[in-house]
Amino acid sequence: MLLLVIVAALFSGCCANILQPYNETALNMFHGNDFNGDGKFERSELDFTFYVYDTEPLDGIISRLEYTSYINKTTPELYRLSHELYDIYDIDNDNRLEKHDYDAFFQLMDSDDDGWVTEHEFVHYWTILLESLGHLIDVGGTR
Ligand SMILES: *[C@@H]1O[C@H](CO)[C@@H](O)[C@H](O)[C@H]1NC(C)=O
Ligand SMILES: *[C@@H]1O[C@H](CO)[C@@H](O)[C@H](O)[C@H]1NC(C)=O
Repeated sequence: MLLLVIVAALFSGCCANILQPYNETALNMFHGNDFNGDGKFERSELDFTFYVYDTEPLDGIISRLEYTSYINKTTPELYRLSHELYDIYDIDNDNRLEKHDYDAFFQLMDSDDDGWVTEHEFVHYWTILLESLGHLIDVGGTR
C-alpha cells in the first residue's frame, strides 16, 4: 500500500513535500490501487497491494522488517513514515501483517461498512492519515 503513486510523485519533482497536496495524493492512490478500475476499492485489492512486500520468507505474512526494508530500498524518503504506517496496518500490534489485520484495516477505510471503499471514503481516510504523518518525509522534491 502507498508505494506506486509515491514513486511517481518523486519523479515529478513537484512540491516541497512529495505527499502534498495530500488529498491529491490520496486520490492518486485510489486510482493506483483500484486495480480493476471499477471505481471501488475492494477487499481483494487490498491484499494485492501488500503482496509486493512479502519477500523473505514468502509466507503470506509481512513482518515489519520486510515492509520497512522494501520501502527503504525503493523510496528511502518514506522510511520513517513506513514504520508509522506499519503500526497502523498492524492492528493487533504483533509485528506481523496477516489476514485479520487487513480485514480490520479495510474496515477503517470502509466507513459506511458496506463491503467496499468508495473513492470518497478512500480519499477522506487517506487525506487525514497523510496530514497527520506527512511531517515524517525526509527529503523534499527539490531534485
Ligand atoms: C484538494 O483540496 C483543494 C483545496 O481544498 C481543492 O481545491 C481540490 O479540489 C481538492 N482535490 C481533490 C482531489 O479533492
Ligand atoms: C536503508 O538503506 C540504506 C542503503 O541501502 C542502508 O545503508 C541502511 O542501512 C538502510 N536502513 C535501514 C534502517 O534499513
